[in-house]
Amino acid sequence: MKKYRLLAMLSAAMILLAGCGSDDSSSSAEADKPADGTSAVTDASDGSEAEPAKDKPASERNSKFVETADYPKLKELYKDDFKFGCAISTTIQNTPEYSELVCEQFNSYTAENAMKPEATLDQKEALSDPDKYNEHVPLNFSNMKTCLDYAQEHGFAVRGHTLVWHSQTPEWFFCVGFQKKNGTVDRDTMLKRMENYIKDVLEWTNENYPGLIYAWDVVNEAISDSKGMRKESKWYEVVGEDFVQKAFEYARKYAAADVKLFYNDYNAYQSRKRKDIIEMLQPIVDAGNIDGMGLQSHVGLYLNPIEFKTAIKDYYKKLGLEIHITELDLGKDKSEDWETKQEELYKKLFTAFKELKADGVPLTSVTVWGLTDGMSWRKGENALLFNDDLSRKPAFDGIVAAAG
Ligand code: XIL
Repeated sequence: MKKYRLLAMLSAAMILLAGCGSDDSSSSAEADKPADGTSAVTDASDGSEAEPAKDKPASERNSKFVETADYPKLKELYKDDFKFGCAISTTIQNTPEYSELVCEQFNSYTAENAMKPEATLDQKEALSDPDKYNEHVPLNFSNMKTCLDYAQEHGFAVRGHTLVWHSQTPEWFFCVGFQKKNGTVDRDTMLKRMENYIKDVLEWTNENYPGLIYAWDVVNEAISDSKGMRKESKWYEVVGEDFVQKAFEYARKYAAADVKLFYNDYNAYQSRKRKDIIEMLQPIVDAGNIDGMGLQSHVGLYLNPIEFKTAIKDYYKKLGLEIHITELDLGKDKSEDWETKQEELYKKLFTAFKELKADGVPLTSVTVWGLTDGMSWRKGENALLFNDDLSRKPAFDGIVAAAG
């Protein structure tokens, strides 16, 4: 039995070392590097050898992890307010103690990497017959299947993340003959590729897992940090300004009626960026093609919770959209008492979320972007709710306290 456990841990470590899907430990710099490899990235599939996460007697618990079963449960504490989610990696799924904790605490699942375009587009198959696949690029659903099987088996509702994004979408997807050296295709071809990608993903997920996915991030991060639309994006370059509108038009065309369509962005609470986002989304709202606004919320202890609350209200008031907090994590600062400050800020934010609910703002889902500080994409910033041994941080207690 012990040996089995060791194998599971080793296999999880190997996934990390191999950099498969760049889950867990990647820096944001790596995050922005589009993968241009062959076929789908392997964020998920290798885990098959790992020991199933369920039915583990407590006596077999790996001694590097503390017991978590008696922690207050976030999903219970906030069950009348919103779904409480976590970004889940293959390592979490394949490590029994991590898996137990996410199942205890959360009821909404976002795949940290394994449902992104780079994990789904199949370059190998595309290259086998570039003419045949020119407008309809083949997909490999094995990574998505691993995620959705896990979510279904453990009773999570799923946020689909993400369909159209400049990052973690391989450059070959935009290229003639699916090879970088040929340069990019024309707008019309790219629109066909976009439509077919969206169609295939939405139809496949709906056919195989009806009712499991409650929202999709249709477009991620289209607005620039300085002004207007982000120009460093193959979508912007090849399709042009209206790629966001087009993506939502296609998504509405193929999504099941119970799947909500979201725009998602970081620093979306900042007033300048908010103005640009609202301007961009207004015609999409008018066309009836969007249901929600996702605020990623990768922030730090500098965040003013009142400004954040105002921003959420503003999106609702101006656009009438449902709101999700999609990727919350609060990085530490350099002060010695950062942990206390982090606890307070988490508490203030969740207090604000409850006040927004009381004010009638449709904030229906809040997701934290990962489980333990050591596995966070913001390495060294200690932004999450649990330490690496799964002991709970003051940050966790802050959220518990805000529940009242
Ligand atoms: C990050 C993952 O956490 C990393 O593991 C990966 O290397 C890069 O992507 N905004 C998003 C998320 O929408 O998909 C990103 O996730 C974090 C920023």
